[in-house]
Order: sequence, then C-alpha cells, then structure tokens
Amino acid sequence: MSSKKRGGFSSRLGFVLATAGSAVGLGNIWRFPYLAAKYGGGTFLLTYLILAVTFGFTLTLTEICIGRRSGTSVFGAFRHFNKKYSFIGFLASLVPFIIYPYYCVIGGWVTKYLAVSVQGNIKSAANDSFFGSFISQVNEPLIWLAIFTLIVTVVVACGVEGGIERVSTFLMPVLVVLLVGISLYCITRKGAIDGVIYYLKPDLSQIKPMTFLAALGQLFYSMSLAMGIMITFGSYMPKDADLEQSVTQVELFDTGIAFLSGLMIVPAVFIYSGGDKNMLASGASLMFVMLPKVFNSMAMGHIIGAVFFVLVFFAALTSAISLLETLVSLVIDKFHISRIKACIIFFVIAMAMAVPSSLGYGIWASIKPLGFAFLDFFDFVSNSILMPIVAFLTCIFAAYILKPKEIIDEVESSGKFRRKGLYIIVIKYIAPICIVAILVFSVLQGLKIITV
Ligand code: PHE
Repeated sequence: MSSKKRGGFSSRLGFVLATAGSAVGLGNIWRFPYLAAKYGGGTFLLTYLILAVTFGFTLTLTEICIGRRSGTSVFGAFRHFNKKYSFIGFLASLVPFIIYPYYCVIGGWVTKYLAVSVQGNIKSAANDSFFGSFISQVNEPLIWLAIFTLIVTVVVACGVEGGIERVSTFLMPVLVVLLVGISLYCITRKGAIDGVIYYLKPDLSQIKPMTFLAALGQLFYSMSLAMGIMITFGSYMPKDADLEQSVTQVELFDTGIAFLSGLMIVPAVFIYSGGDKNMLASGASLMFVMLPKVFNSMAMGHIIGAVFFVLVFFAALTSAISLLETLVSLVIDKFHISRIKACIIFFVIAMAMAVPSSLGYGIWASIKPLGFAFLDFFDFVSNSILMPIVAFLTCIFAAYILKPKEIIDEVESSGKFRRKGLYIIVIKYIAPICIVAILVFSVLQGLKIITV
C-alpha cells in the first residue's frame, strides 16, 4: 500500500507533537510527581533524566525506526523483516487492545471532573465521599465513558493528518501554556518553597535499587513504549524527517511536562497538608480525591482546579487517541477496511470491554481476578507483564535478528546519528538486562510479594 493511501503526518513538527501527545498522559501529571517525591526528589529526577537520554532514547528510536522502515502497523512490522517473528507484533498489539478500554474508563472519570470543575463546583469534588460514590455507581461512569470514547473515536475517524495531527498541534502547546501558568501560580503561594525544595533537593539516602527500577518503569509507561504505538506513529513519519532530533524532542516534551507537573502538584499538596509527605503517596486517589481538596483550599482554587482538569483531559485524550490509532491502523492494514468502519468496530468493542472495568468498583466489586479489581487487573497484565516481555523481545529482535545496522541505516537515511555508539551498547546489552529487572520487579510488586 502506498504511504499516501495509508495516511501520514504532513510534517516533522506534526509527528513530534502527536507523538508527544501520546507520551504525555496521566503518567506525567499524576504518577511522575508522586514517584519523584517518594524516591528522593532531585535524586529521582537525575536518575530519570539519565535513563531517558540512554534507555528511553534507544527504545523509542528503535520502535520508530521499525515503523518507518516497514511502513506498516505493529502486526505487519515484525513480519516485514522476518516472518518467523510476527508473533512479537501480535503480542505488542495485545497491549493497546487491553489498555484502551480501561484507559477510556479513567478518561470518563476525568471528563466528569472536567465538567464539575468548569461549572465551578470543585467544592463538591473536594468532599470525602465524592470520588468513591461516583465510581461505584452503574450508569453515570458508563455515560462519561461513552462520551470520552466517542470523542476519541471521532478524532481518529478524521484521519492521521486531519484528526490526530490537527488536534495534537493545537492541544499540546495549549497544555504547555496552562501547565506553566498553574505551576507558576502554585510555587509563588505562601509556604510553597518547602515543597519546591522537597521536590528538587537530592536525598542521597534514597538512592537504592528501587529508585532506579521505579524510574525505569515510569519511563517505559510515560514514553508509551512496548505497545506498538511508536511503531505505528513511526510508519506515518515523513521519510526525510531527522529521526534522532525528533526522538530527542519528544522526550524533552514528555520529561518537561512531567517535571512541571511535579512543580505544580508537590508544593500545592505541601501547603495543604502542612508538609505531610504521606499525602503525596496516596496513589491513584491523589488526583481524584486529594487534589480537589487542595484546589478547594486555595485562593482562586476553583479557577486553578478547572484549568487543571482541562489539562488532564487534554493529556488523557491525546494518549487515548494514540491507543485507538494503533488498533485502527492494525485492522486497516490487515483487513483493508475503511477507517470509519474500523473506528466504529473499536467503539463497540472498547465499550463492551470497558464495562467490567467500570463496574468493578461498584456492583461487580466482589469479582476479583488474582485479587485485583477488574481495572487494576487489566493494568497489571498489560503494564507489568506484557509490556516488559514485548520490550525485551523488541530489543533482542533489533539487536540480534535485525542487527543495529538496519536501525542505523534508517536513522542515517534522513540525518546524522550522533549517539550511534551509545545506541549500540544500550540496545545490545544494557536494555535487555534492565527490562528483565523491571519484569521481575513489577510481577513481584503486582502480586504483593514485595511492597514499596
Ligand atoms: N504515556 C502515557 C502517560 O504517560 C500513558 C499511556 C499508556 C499512553 C498507554 C498511551 C497508552 O500517561
């Protein structure tokens, strides 16, 4: 199929912003700040940064190269090089298939919070029981889920250039402006400086293997690796666009947004809690339970809260778009059906698959696969098991089957490859070892054999 017929990004900037749109999501805004605060502030930031320019750079570049060189979505990409390895493409495509439905459930919650906060009702969201009673209902979360999924479906149905690129080139800059604005507001509040110091100052007593593994796991999730997204987006990348530069910019974008989110959330929570660090570690409930309380207690908090949820909504939307696009491109390439038809099919499938995740916090709460609520179970299977396996296989494939030369040729076909030496060492030796470490760690953690 010609690349024109498949669709693609019109420019390098379009590619960078859409890819950054996928990477920037709930992971940056909610997960990164609390991990950084937990694992020694500046120490975690530094560890993360070093991993991003080595490990993250290598894996992202590899996936984008596989996509651009093969010119096809994830399923066909591995087959394109070697038929024997199409199973890696199959495994990789399972990941967005599992993640997309439950990501839309969370997207639905975010949409609800957006609606509540822009109506100026952050006060009601600050109520202790608001979140719990909302997600345990039957109909309301399902309605918000349907609204969110429909928006994602419409954008993807409009195509790569007309839908995804257009939405991302508008949303991503807006997101940066909003985030810079609220970070500035938060760090200039009285008492915020202690939070800023806590977030940024290295705490050397916190350097332990766990800091490294937590940063690595976060990097993985944050860069949307090992689920075919980067391969799909790579296949839409203009052939003459500089690959190394583009990957570096996407990473800068992703890390910059994560950093700024921390700069906004950590001091805000610090002021509210009077320096009690435990609040930051409240996990999933931080965003939906704690932050509305924090905003509610702030001067102008109803405006800041509304802007915050607009921002979270945009971030979740562009990430969900990348998940759906990966699935849609797969069936378009495989079965040659139209984009609209593919979108409708996945709307129905996603809604059906999302129902258990949504009801799992309410009337189906007693059904617990492996002891998890449905949503957490899907999250565990995809993030903790499948993703590290796919990433490991991708590394081995690139380093020992395809050989780094194929990747290097693709990078050099459109620009210079400055970090070539580093790339070869990381893909051949460092990355596979690190990924096995993540796999072992996350399985033990998920099964509650170790707790951190
Ligand atoms: N990278 C996104 C984030 O940081 C998460 C994501 C996961 C996006 C899966 C798409 C698919 O939140």
